[in-house]
Amino acid sequence: MSRRGRFITVEGGEGAGKSSNLAYIRQLLEEAGKPVLFTREPGGTPLGEEIRELLLGHRDGGMAADTELLLMFAARAEHLARKIVPALAAGDWVLCDRFTDATYAYQGAGRGIDMARIRTLEQFVQGDLRPDLTLLLDLPVEIGLRRAGARSAPDRFEAERTGFFEAVRNGYLAIARAEPERVKVVDASPSLPEVQAQIREVIEAFIAQEEGN
Ligand code: TMP
Repeated sequence: MSRRGRFITVEGGEGAGKSSNLAYIRQLLEEAGKPVLFTREPGGTPLGEEIRELLLGHRDGGMAADTELLLMFAARAEHLARKIVPALAAGDWVLCDRFTDATYAYQGAGRGIDMARIRTLEQFVQGDLRPDLTLLLDLPVEIGLRRAGARSAPDRFEAERTGFFEAVRNGYLAIARAEPERVKVVDASPSLPEVQAQIREVIEAFIAQEEGN
């Protein structure tokens, strides 16, 4: 694939302020003159959004972990084929609310699925495509859950126990330690302006690096 755009993903646990920070990142990229396609996972396409509803909805008996894993990758395959890959090829910068790191964190670290199986699916669905930059909005689980608690009825993931979210957080931090070049950890616990200052630094450094190439 000829890829001219850049692929940026944003990850984080519950209550990390993903929505407002994504809007801020989008604004920074647009101010820098980058054409931005803003999208999310699971979802991003009509079929992907239907799969998202299946994944987030409650049902008697729940969902087997492997079903959850495969639905995440089914939505991702659709998203890549119809939206992400064409946009990158056309020179757009793709800003995605969550991507495969979420699968390693939630289905791997959270549900306990073997990471090697996730890696196999990642290679199968994505080939060599990986994000160029990932911002991990990190904060202690307790603070995140308190912030998220103010919102509407919890979906199937939000209804999980604290121990699950601790495992998810540790899963994300393990990825950041393993791939420090790609994954930049942003401390999401201070006030919004302080978090935005960290984000600005990461995005400006990334743009400068890419423009130097
Ligand atoms: P959100 O994007 O609105 O935060 O919600 C999506 C939920 O789906 C969130 O709880 C994390 C979860 N998720 C996974 O478990 N695995 C994945 O691969 C992705 C993309 C999301």
